[in-house]
Amino acid sequence: MAAISIFFYFLLFSFAEATTNRGGGNGFTTSLFHRDSLLSPLHNSSLSCHDRRTNAFRRSFSRSATLLSHVNAVSTACIHSPIIPNSGEFLMSVSIGTPPVDFIAIADTGSDLTWTQCLPCQKCFNQSHPMFNPRRSSSYRNVSCTSDTCRSLDSYHCGTDLQTCSYGYSYGDRSFTYGDLASDKITIESFKLPKTVIGCGHQNGGTFGGVTSGIIGLGGGALSLVSQMNTIAAIKRQFSYCLPTFFSDENITGKISFGQNAVVSGPKVISTPLVSRSPDTFYFLTLEAISVANKRLKAADDTSALTRRGNIIIDSGTTLTFLPRNLYEDLVSTLVSVIKAKRVDDPSGILELCYAAGGGDDLHIPVIIAHFAGGADVKLLPLNTFALVAENVTCLTLAPASDLAIFGNLAQINFIVGYDLENKRLSFKPTVCD
Ligand SMILES: *[C@@H]1O[C@H](CO)[C@@H](O)[C@H](O)[C@H]1NC(C)=O
Ligand SMILES: *[C@@H]1O[C@H](CO)[C@@H](O)[C@H](O)[C@H]1NC(C)=O
Ligand SMILES: *[C@@H]1O[C@H](CO)[C@@H](O)[C@H](O)[C@H]1NC(C)=O
Ligand SMILES: *[C@@H]1O[C@H](CO)[C@@H](O)[C@H](O)[C@H]1NC(C)=O
Ligand SMILES: *[C@@H]1O[C@H](CO)[C@@H](O)[C@H](O)[C@H]1NC(C)=O
Repeated sequence: MAAISIFFYFLLFSFAEATTNRGGGNGFTTSLFHRDSLLSPLHNSSLSCHDRRTNAFRRSFSRSATLLSHVNAVSTACIHSPIIPNSGEFLMSVSIGTPPVDFIAIADTGSDLTWTQCLPCQKCFNQSHPMFNPRRSSSYRNVSCTSDTCRSLDSYHCGTDLQTCSYGYSYGDRSFTYGDLASDKITIESFKLPKTVIGCGHQNGGTFGGVTSGIIGLGGGALSLVSQMNTIAAIKRQFSYCLPTFFSDENITGKISFGQNAVVSGPKVISTPLVSRSPDTFYFLTLEAISVANKRLKAADDTSALTRRGNIIIDSGTTLTFLPRNLYEDLVSTLVSVIKAKRVDDPSGILELCYAAGGGDDLHIPVIIAHFAGGADVKLLPLNTFALVAENVTCLTLAPASDLAIFGNLAQINFIVGYDLENKRLSFKPTVCD
């Protein structure tokens, strides 16, 4: 019974177990929650669930444009920025400093530097938690301008005494964060990450405004939280998350794990290489083909393995999946020939392939298999590929990429997705994440 399971996942992460460093643990787990969930400061109760989905789809397009500009960035300092203003869909609770100050941050697989708004604020956006005051934190240290850490930033400038390293990122859409590169203790659940390099943002604004208090950078670059874990807490550079379905339950949460807790194991695990490409922030995979209804659709006409290697990034902060255009078009024409239902337009005009069907109707949506390099065949169920966007309108949640293909978060629902930076592997394990 392939009753259309169009359930938007929208998650929240609220569960948490952690091993403390003191006890010799080498990993920890916390909850992830979706930005539209009831646990989120961004939840807007005046929006319908259809509006929330449509907004998430719109954000997907602006995020994909931002990620693309990052890939294509000419290497001038101010354009090449490791922070994405449209910074993601999932939030997590962390604390910073000694004594710890709590905040809610966007968990972003598309950026590296972890930062929060800091006092004194020359310009800050409103946040739901009190602002972090570095003067009150006994573990806060400025990062010196002569350090390699400072020099690893694409853009920095030095204070007159060389004791401070100012970072600054600005974006075409007027979003920005400026502040001091620093180190301080980050606490997630009860796990302590001492001397973590962070950005202390004294001037922040633009599309961040009204959102959360900062970013947890989960990218693959040197300054990301994951990349630092080995040196700051002697734990393996790996993390995994599990994004659940979001039906009508806005309280549902997922999980994110780090270090030893992030090992993905068991008989159903499939893995594919993480491909090294620029920028190292992004997680590039190789999508070889897609199968649907016994048809195998190749990702590229030319069979050159070189052009295919690293042809798609995986991202938790993009809702839709963007496929290379030829593959998307082949997929749509195959789906059109297989799904026997009345086609309608997406009322918001965002998505292309929509059917007149509500949540209870049986559209017989076929399983779509994404074939990643190394024999990693990811079976996408209807809930990973279609969504109810309005009453009685169900649409394909895949779209053609303008240039950068992205495997988005709807496609990752009900998988444990493991990022192993030590062994350069990404794993999927089908699971019920709720
Ligand atoms: C909530 O959504 C409504 C309707 O779109 C909008 O007018 C309002 O500004 C939103 N509120 C917030 C806090 O974003
Ligand atoms: C920030 O919060 C203050 C006090 O609650 C309010 O007066 C101000 O309008 C808010 N600013 C924005 C940009 O939302
Ligand atoms: C860090 O640098 C700022 C700006 O120069 C300075 O005001 C502050 O006292 C320094 N903090 C520490 C802990 O050295
Ligand atoms: C969400 O959780 C809160 C408190 O735990 C509860 O009061 C509320 O009814 C729940 N909402 C939904 C939609 O399940
Ligand atoms: C949705 O479909 C049902 C059953 O076909 C119908 O009764 C209802 O009026 C439709 N709603 C809209 C908004 O078209």
